[in-house]
Amino acid sequence: MGEGKAKIAVIGAGNVGATCAFVLAERKLGDIVLLDIYEGFAKGKALDMAQGGQVLNYDGSITGTSDYADIAGSDVVVVTSGFPRQPGMTREDLIEKNAGIITEVGTGIAAHAPDAVIVMVTNPLDLMTYHMQKVTGFPAERVVGQAGILDSARMTHFVAAEIGCSNEDVTAMVLGGHGDTMVPLPRYTTVSGIPITQLLDEETITAISERTAGGGGEIVKLLERGSAFYAPGSAAAIMAESIVKDRKRLIPASARLSGQYGLEDVYIGVPVILGRGGIERIIELELTDAELESLQGSANFYRGQLSELLGY
Ligand SMILES: NC(=O)c1ccc[n+]([C@@H]2O[C@H](COP(=O)([O-])OP(=O)(O)OC[C@H]3O[C@@H](n4cnc5c(N)ncnc54)[C@H](O)[C@@H]3O)[C@@H](O)[C@H]2O)c1
Repeated sequence: MGEGKAKIAVIGAGNVGATCAFVLAERKLGDIVLLDIYEGFAKGKALDMAQGGQVLNYDGSITGTSDYADIAGSDVVVVTSGFPRQPGMTREDLIEKNAGIITEVGTGIAAHAPDAVIVMVTNPLDLMTYHMQKVTGFPAERVVGQAGILDSARMTHFVAAEIGCSNEDVTAMVLGGHGDTMVPLPRYTTVSGIPITQLLDEETITAISERTAGGGGEIVKLLERGSAFYAPGSAAAIMAESIVKDRKRLIPASARLSGQYGLEDVYIGVPVILGRGGIERIIELELTDAELESLQGSANFYRGQLSELLGY
């Protein structure tokens, strides 16, 4: 990563991509390039955001494009291009349409930003992150998927609302795949260091875990068109920030495992340290037999989908 101002590309200027770009600008993280197959769409959103530069007190440039040459030199590329869910769909229903998009986008990134760290957002997240790593041939630590930070943020929100305390004081840990098999971990969810198992009864915790796992679906149902984007776009921006600023945040994210938790050759949500090089370390938590079984069950589901649907 070069010295001086960071450059961050966001592929897909739709709901999640534009929200991510806006949060990146608001946090003054560097120059931003928005890329979409619809050039005018990317250019229009970039110009709109750039015109907010004065009110946001933001000096970096925000430009729109459909040309991969413009992402050259990017330190981070956030990938949000692809179809979102509609009511009644699972994330896995998107695989056919979105795998082709990721092949095209990955080829563009590998050609023009070969040193970037890729933060994947496109669903089905864990499968598309694996596919992106294969398409680009980047080392696994430079391709990471955004899911756990969002799923944990959803859980913290529900916990804070239930206890009646500040969101800021709650830290949650949600592992596993970004789908119905996700694994909320109440034992590792705390309020200012106090495990929630000491603050809430079992029934309430179970209800919170279930609402977390269905958190995206709840919003799809309410919106009736498209899926969540404020929290997802912000979550991706925070991952990009940890990378460009080398903050080394310890967050759950989709990472390629090579033996950790008894799993390999699969991308799945686990705690990682995210710094300038991408995933700098995968943390192996001590899990109970039931927790480990849930995590392995989730990973095995995606491992099966990788071979069945993508031929890996
Ligand atoms: N990982 C997560 O936590 C999470 C959360 C929310 C949404 N998502 C996923 O993020 C993706 C985007 O969601 P959204 O709500 O922003 O959708 P959206 O439809 O608003 O935006 C998608 C954008 O991708 C663009 N696009 C399509 N094909 C492209 C290509 N080949 N190259 C470049 N751009 C292309 C479209 O023109 C569109 O602007 C979806 O797959 C959605 O399921 C993931």
